This record gives sequence, C-alpha cells and structure tokens, in this order.
Amino acid sequence: SIAACIFDLDGVIVDTAVYHYQAWKRLANELGFDFTETQNERLKGISRVRSLQLMLEWGGIQKTPEEQQVLATRKNDWYVNMINRMTPQEILPGVLPFLQQCRAAGIKTALGSASKNAHTILERTGLLPLFDVVVDGNAVTASKPDPEVFLRCAALLGITPDRCVVFEDAVAGIEAAKAAGMKAIGIGESTVLTGADEVVAGLYEMNLEQLS
Ligand code: G6P
Ligand code: MG
Repeated sequence: SIAACIFDLDGVIVDTAVYHYQAWKRLANELGFDFTETQNERLKGISRVRSLQLMLEWGGIQKTPEEQQVLATRKNDWYVNMINRMTPQEILPGVLPFLQQCRAAGIKTALGSASKNAHTILERTGLLPLFDVVVDGNAVTASKPDPEVFLRCAALLGITPDRCVVFEDAVAGIEAAKAAGMKAIGIGESTVLTGADEVVAGLYEMNLEQLS
C-alpha cells in the first residue's frame, strides 16, 4: 500500500509556474525574441540553467557559460521579487486538506522540487511544517527527468519507491517518477501528461481512498 506522497512544488502546491513564465518571457523579450506558453510547458520541472540553455537555443542565441550565469541570475532576481510577496492564499485549491489527510492517515509527505527557491516559498506560504522531508534543487545534481530527486525523498523517508506516489505537473517530472519506479499522478491535462498513471486537474480532486 501507499506509504508516502511526494509533491512537486511549482504548479502542484503553488501556482509559481506563472511567475516562472513571466520572468522567462521578460528575459526572452529583452534578448529580442518571444517565448510562448508551449515553450514554457517544456521548461516545467527543468533546472534554472538548463531552462536558460533551452531558451537560448530556441532564440538562436549563443552565450558563454559566464554570460549564462548572469542571465540566469537576472531571471531569478525578478522571480524572487515575485515570490517574496507570496501569501498562504496562493496555495492551490485542495492542497492543505490533502496534506492534512495524509498526515492524519500516517502517510509520509515529501517535497521533491528542482527549485532552489523551495524553502522561501514553503516559508512564505506556511507549508513547511506539513512536509516530513524537503528535497530541492540545492540537494540534487541531476535534473528531472532523472529520478534522483524522488529517489532521494524515498531514501530519506526510508520507504521503497513502489510505495510512493508522485504528484507532478511537468512532463519531465512524470518521466522522473516513472523512472524512479513510483506511481505518477499528473496535475493538469491528460493530453499533455500522457505518461501519468492518472491525471487530475488539481489536488482538490484527490482523496486518500482514491490512492489505494
Ligand atoms: C521547477 C520549475 C521550473 C524551474 C525549476 C528551478 O522545477 O517547474 O520551471 O526552472 O523549478 O527553479 P528555481 O527556483 O531554482 O529557478
Ligand atoms: Mg512543477
């Protein structure tokens, strides 16, 4: 049976995906090209530097690693400005009750995110105490779709992957969950998250009975 629920952060727990999108779009426009929602979809779950490299490829622009650092930092400064103003009201619908249900049922909760800003967001929204384990972009070396982040959550919890369920809004994240040997529930559209075991619109559609 299921012993742990592992949650992606951006787009699952909070709607920071829109902030990432705004910041990347601003950077792309400054560099002289546009950035579409379809392209943004492909950056979900992907690390900051890798996202920048993909964007530069799409824009047909070459930058040295040093220049890439500067651009990634610029994007992050805008992004941090937005998340520093976040409140608990930005927690997505259904998240709080579902986390509370998990804990009441003795199911472990973990955050598995590629973001290096995860702690800021969890603190701003007051969600930090609801997670037994937090593994973020500061703790992992391989980006999703590599399963490292989710395997590390399971290891820290002392629970085998086959007893873990991952909640993800990113194609790369669903792939990572499956590569980890875990169940994957997509948050979003089934036409996009084709690799998921099941897709729901949001955690408000989930309850523990459905999991077992
Ligand atoms: C998440 C988001 C990505 C973001 C990545 C790194 O996976 O879905 O869009 O690029 O985290 O976030 P960071 O806050 O470290 O730039
Ligand atoms: Mg996400």
